[in-house]
Amino acid sequence: MTADTEAEVSEAQIAVHWKEEPLIEPPRSFVKQANVSDPSVFERFSEKNFPQCFEEYADLLSWDSRWHTVLDTGRPPFWKWFVGGKLNASYNAVDRHLPKHRNKAALIWVPESEDEAAQAVTYQELYNRVNEFALVLKEFAGLNAGDRVTFHLPMVPELPISMLAAARLGIIHNQVFGGFSARACAERMEDSKSTVLVTIDGYYRNGGLIDKKKEADVTVEEAEKLGIEVEKVLVWRRHPGKYISRSPMVEGRDFFVDEVARPFRGRTIAPTSMDAEAPLFLMYTSGSTGKPKGIQHRTGGYLAYVAGTTKFVQDLRPEDVYWCFADIGWITGHSYIVYGPLTNAATSVMYEGVPLYPDPGRPWRIAERLGVNIFHTAPTTIRMLRKAGPDEPSKYHYRFKAMTTVGEPIEPEAWRWYYEVVGKKEAVITDTWWQTETGGFLCSTMPALAPMKPGSAGPGMPGIYPVIYDENGAEVPPGQNRAGNICIRNPWPGIMQTIWGDPDRFVSVYYSKYNRDGQSKDWHDWPYFAGDGAVQAADGYFRIVGRVDDVIKVAGHRLGTKEIENAVLTTPEVAEAAAIAMEDELRGHVPVVYVALKPGSALMKGLEDVIKGNVVRELGPIARPRFVYVVPDLPKTRSGKIMRRVLASISDRKDYGDVTTLANPDVVETIRKQVQAT
Ligand code: PRX
Repeated sequence: MTADTEAEVSEAQIAVHWKEEPLIEPPRSFVKQANVSDPSVFERFSEKNFPQCFEEYADLLSWDSRWHTVLDTGRPPFWKWFVGGKLNASYNAVDRHLPKHRNKAALIWVPESEDEAAQAVTYQELYNRVNEFALVLKEFAGLNAGDRVTFHLPMVPELPISMLAAARLGIIHNQVFGGFSARACAERMEDSKSTVLVTIDGYYRNGGLIDKKKEADVTVEEAEKLGIEVEKVLVWRRHPGKYISRSPMVEGRDFFVDEVARPFRGRTIAPTSMDAEAPLFLMYTSGSTGKPKGIQHRTGGYLAYVAGTTKFVQDLRPEDVYWCFADIGWITGHSYIVYGPLTNAATSVMYEGVPLYPDPGRPWRIAERLGVNIFHTAPTTIRMLRKAGPDEPSKYHYRFKAMTTVGEPIEPEAWRWYYEVVGKKEAVITDTWWQTETGGFLCSTMPALAPMKPGSAGPGMPGIYPVIYDENGAEVPPGQNRAGNICIRNPWPGIMQTIWGDPDRFVSVYYSKYNRDGQSKDWHDWPYFAGDGAVQAADGYFRIVGRVDDVIKVAGHRLGTKEIENAVLTTPEVAEAAAIAMEDELRGHVPVVYVALKPGSALMKGLEDVIKGNVVRELGPIARPRFVYVVPDLPKTRSGKIMRRVLASISDRKDYGDVTTLANPDVVETIRKQVQAT
């Protein structure tokens, strides 16, 4: 879906028809033991108790000093939470659990190869390693509270250790998803003005070794082109004492963490008491322009929100073994592999590799062997596992009490396989709708208190008051079968603080659309615009239909079509490019690119592959287009806007509708024939 609404129907006008799915009650075995089984939670978090209701989440944390104001609305929409409070995120995730849980596994890390044993990192060991690396960041790399540090790390325990070490000193961490390219990492270093890069020599994926240090060398070069001098590259080693990269270490720039940490072995450093409003981390994400946005999350509100929602929705307790099969490089991992579970003193499982390695039984073997009882993943993974091994789960003797799905809409058929086969009808499912910007869950059922509905996320979370508006700001009431823009009427503690270095963009992207009065200090006038189309059923459950802007979700990963187009335009022969999301049975959507060449450029053999290669170089393998079509011209409106929706319909082999008002209507049929002949 694109923002080029000229001559198009807006999301808000689309009537959505689907079969209303029957409600399914949560299993009794789950309800009996649930953290939240008292319906008074809805009353406690109702609008009349807002914003004080969120003190219940903040009280799950240990504070150095208590806040004097729960919510400060003095400068909308830059809300402040738990103002006056002081705390440390690393202390809350690690130190405070030592008296009771010292010897309990905080993390269990599963390497991809089944020949390599899983590693348990106890809370005591996590404490030791976090302290040692915090000392490296401070004493060796010279970083202090408020500085930014960039990580380009895969799914290894050193990633949460690095995050918690930074948080211990108030250093703002900026983890770049491992599947993003060196160039993408360099851009994020430049935007955040970060001069220390933390990486690893290599890791394993799909049976192969990925040389990550080699990539770091390119990151340094690319950063230099952008005007950032990377002073230090800190390199963790995947195997102790052994270097598995082919890239030579650059003297005075590259350092092995194990070597520089030696003087700090066994030493500790006190956690820095941070203001609740001090930034905790940046997470870059895609939006409507080519430049990713540095979503800035605060310490107190964010931590309170993920601690509370983990407890309420994931139903996590210290005795649980919880596995969120996502990547820590995305917000799901930050909130629901690291900060949410660890503040709740749980055991959080991390897996290095891909779902189907070496066969589709792998995730269920991991679950059986580690005694996982709470499981969390994305619809793409569910679809993939179902296709490759529909009967595999029944061969393994794990028992889940709760399961979550996140990141993209799940179709009822895949939902039912998840429920019946993966969960063995014993586990409750929560379909959690939220975003990088929102810190934690926005819509979900409360698992012991509301029935499940396949394909629907459910109502707003406690204390979250969603609404659907049409393009003119009128509310679309429930039960109309009409999609509109889902918005959240109120602020909540997990909402981002701002976009790093770009407060105007923060206001214009998320608030200007439905703001009623730019001068108002009343939060009621500032609904949060999420950028998703949704429909609300008569019973109040929301079904998310997809993005209304230029963001696409590819296998649950968030990418911007404009970023892909910019990458394509680095190909000298290309004059114009349009990236669209094509429907895909397994991955939800995949990127497809249409290009028109510059006059005089002949179609050279292999140009499609060159273009694909350029996208991978600029953005990373996750953005690789499935198809590249070189076409005579791109369909445009008379004012020159590219009609991406027409191209998407052609790729999806759907009716592209009436195109007679376009500037070049004839080209549409030419393109259709070309695409459908392949
Ligand atoms: O379109 C929505 C989709 O993912 C987008 C946010 O992506 P990201 O910031 O990467 O965060 C993903 C993890 C929270 C949303 O705007 N989305 C997320 N969860 C769901 C979803 N779509 C449907 N159902 C969900 N449960």
